[in-house]
Amino acid sequence: MMEKLGVQLQKPPSFLFLQCRKTMSVLQVFFFFFLLAGCSEITKSSVVRKMEDSHQPVTLQQSDDKVVMYNGIVSATVSRPDGNLIGLSYNGIDNLLEPLTRADNRGYWDFSWNPLSGRSNYYRFKGTKFSVIMENEDQVEVSLLYTWNSSLPSGKIPMNIDIRYILRRGSSGLYSYAIFERSEDFPAIRVDVFRLAYKLSQGLFHYMAITDERQREMPTAQDRSKGQTLDYPEAVLLTHPSNPEFFGEVDDKYMYSVENKDNKVSGWVAFNSTNSSSMGFWMITPSNEFRNGGPTKQSLTCHVGPVTLNSFVSPHYAGSKDISMIFKEGETYKKVFGPTFLYLNTVANPRDSQTLWDDAKNQMQKEVGSWPYDFPQSKDFIPSNQRGKVSGQLLIRWYPTGVTLFNVSNAYVGLALPGDEGSWQTESKGYQFWTQTDSSGFFTIQNVVPGDYNLYGWVPGILGDYKYEYDITIKSGDDIQLGQLYYWPPRTGPTVWEIGIPDRSAQEFYVPDPYPSLVNNLYLGKPNDRFRQYGLWKRYTELYPTNDLVYHVGVSDYSKDWFYAQVPRDLGNSTYSATTWEIRFELPFVIRGSYTLHIALASTTSSRLIVWVNKGGNRHLRFNTGLRGEDNAIARHGIHGLYWRYNFQVPSSLLVTGTNSIYLTQPKAKSPLQGIMYDYIRFESPTLFGSPNHN
Ligand SMILES: *[C@@H]1O[C@H](CO)[C@@H](O)[C@H](O)[C@H]1NC(C)=O
Ligand SMILES: *[C@@H]1O[C@H](CO)[C@@H](O)[C@H](O)[C@H]1NC(C)=O
Repeated sequence: MMEKLGVQLQKPPSFLFLQCRKTMSVLQVFFFFFLLAGCSEITKSSVVRKMEDSHQPVTLQQSDDKVVMYNGIVSATVSRPDGNLIGLSYNGIDNLLEPLTRADNRGYWDFSWNPLSGRSNYYRFKGTKFSVIMENEDQVEVSLLYTWNSSLPSGKIPMNIDIRYILRRGSSGLYSYAIFERSEDFPAIRVDVFRLAYKLSQGLFHYMAITDERQREMPTAQDRSKGQTLDYPEAVLLTHPSNPEFFGEVDDKYMYSVENKDNKVSGWVAFNSTNSSSMGFWMITPSNEFRNGGPTKQSLTCHVGPVTLNSFVSPHYAGSKDISMIFKEGETYKKVFGPTFLYLNTVANPRDSQTLWDDAKNQMQKEVGSWPYDFPQSKDFIPSNQRGKVSGQLLIRWYPTGVTLFNVSNAYVGLALPGDEGSWQTESKGYQFWTQTDSSGFFTIQNVVPGDYNLYGWVPGILGDYKYEYDITIKSGDDIQLGQLYYWPPRTGPTVWEIGIPDRSAQEFYVPDPYPSLVNNLYLGKPNDRFRQYGLWKRYTELYPTNDLVYHVGVSDYSKDWFYAQVPRDLGNSTYSATTWEIRFELPFVIRGSYTLHIALASTTSSRLIVWVNKGGNRHLRFNTGLRGEDNAIARHGIHGLYWRYNFQVPSSLLVTGTNSIYLTQPKAKSPLQGIMYDYIRFESPTLFGSPNHN
C-alpha cells in the first residue's frame, strides 16, 4: 500500500530537504552539523501520517445490524438502527474504542431529561430507522432516526432525534451531528443533558490533552475503582494506582472542564513502544453556536476511562434549575448540534504527544476555517450563504458626563435568543453566536443562523451586562450594520473603594495551596490553574478557625486577604456554621445622599447573601439576595459559575465619619460545598452630578 504523507503536513519533507541543501550551499561548512541536526529534527517531528492512500473512494457496506464506512484511512462501524459507533479502525488497529465493553457503550449519544414532573430519566439514543442519505466516492452520510409518537410508553423521550455520521474521501476522521425536532402534539419536557461520548480503548490511550498547559499521562479507570472516594463520588484519592507515580493524587473529571469559548479540541494519545509510534484521537468542535450557556459556560471534556465527551447541553457550573432546556406542551422545535469531527493522527516517533497535539490544533483551525461546513446533507444545517452577519462598534459611555466614550477592547459581543440582559448565560435552546471586539470596539458576528435574537455583551474589567435595546431579526444573506452602540456600565457616583476585578471570576482572589496529600500534580506550578485542585475550600476553616475574614480597605490586598470562596466554617462532626465577612473602611467625611454598593458574584451554590451596614446597637439590614444558585462551582473546581449582579443604596444616615463596616453573611451552612464566590465589590459615594439612572 502507498503511504501518503498527510495533508496536515505544513511542509512536505522533500521541500524541507531542498531548503536545507540550498541553504547549505551558501553557508560555511562550519554550520554543516548544526544544519543537519536541525533538518533531521524538523523532518522527524513534523511528519504526521495518514496510514493509507487518502484518495481511495469512500465505501459503505451494509449488513442487518451494522454498517461500515471506509475511506482507506478510517473505517467506522455504526450499529443499525441503534446508531452507536461501535468500531473505529485506523492505523492498523482493529478498534480504537474499548473492545471489551458492550458495543452500545463505546460511542453513544446520551440524555438526561424528565417530563417536568418526576425524576430525571437517563436515556441513551437508540435509533429505529436507518437510511443512507448520500453514498458516492467522495462522501457517505448515514442517518439513524428515532421518532416519538403518543403511543410510545411514557419513558420514551418526546423528541425526534436524527443522528448523522459522515465519512469523506481523504479525511482522517469521522463527522457526526444530531438534529432535534418536536411537533405540536409533543408533551412538555425538560432536557438537562445532551452529549456525545466516546469510550476509548483502555489498553491504548493513557495520555490526555485538553489545552497547551493541561495535558498529562492519566491514571486508569481501575486506579479509580481501587482508590478512596473523597467528599463526593467524582473525587477519588488514588491509593492503589498501577503506576506508583500517581499514588496520593486526586482524580476528578471536573478538574478537566473547559469554557465553551476554548472547547474546540481535546483528546487522547496512544504510544506504541513496539513500533515507536504515537497516535492521537481528537474531538474537534469548530463552532460553539449549538452549545448552551454562551462562551463562559464550562463543560466536561476528557477524563479517566479513557473518555472523551462533547457536551452540547449540560447543567454543569450553572445548575439545572437555572439552565435546562424546557419545552412546553405542543412547543415545536428544531435545532442542529454539530457537526463535530473525530480526528485521528499518527506520527512515527515514540512518545510524541506534542507533534500530534500541534497537528490536532492545526486541524481544528482548518475545521474552524471551513465553518459552516458545506457538506452536511441535512437541509436543517444552514450553509454559509443562507446565514447572516451583524457588525458594529461597542463604546462605553461613562459616568458622570455621559459623553466620554471609551473604546472597549476584547469585549464579548454575541447574539442569543431574546431575553433580559445576561440571559444568554442560562439560555439552552437557541443558537448563540459570539465574537470579541478589536481594540477599537469593532466587531462582526459572522454566519448567524436566521432567526430572532438580542445582542448581548460584556467587557472584561467593566461591571455589568450590555444589551442592545432592539430585537434583531436575521434573514438569509443579511448584512446588518448597527453602527455605534453605547454601553452605560452601572455607576451612580465616584468610587470610594473596590475589591477585585470585574471579570466574572474569583481568580484574582486568594486561592490557597492544595493539601500535599490531595493534589493533582498537573496543576502544581501553574498559577492560572491553581483553583482546579481538590479540597481548597477546607482551607477557610484553617485560616479563620474562630473569627471570620476581615478586609481592611486600603491595607488589605485582595489577592492575599480575600479568600476565593465564602464557605461555611467546618465545626467537625459534619457540622458547619455560617460565616460573616467584614469590609472595614474609613470615611474622612460623609456626603449627604445615597451611597451605592455594587456586588457581583461569580458563583453561588444554595446560598443567600445578607448585607449589613454598620451593625452594632441597631443592626441595619440592608439587603438579602434570597436563596440563589446551584452552579456547584466550588465542588467542581471552577473559579466561577453563573454571574449574579446586585446593587443597592446605602443612605448616608447609616454611615459615620471614621470607621465603617459592611458585613456579608452567607447563612446557609448544611454542606462544606455551599457558598459564594465574589467577582467584584464597589462602593460609590453619592453623585455630585445629579442622579443618572442608567442602571
Ligand atoms: C504496536 O505496533 C506493532 C507493530 O506495528 C503492532 O503490531 C501492534 O498492534 C501495535 N500495538 C498497539 C497496542 O498499538
Ligand atoms: C463529635 O461527636 C462525638 C460522638 O458523638 C463526640 O464525642 C465528640 O466530642 C464530637 N466532637 C466535636 C468536635 O463536636
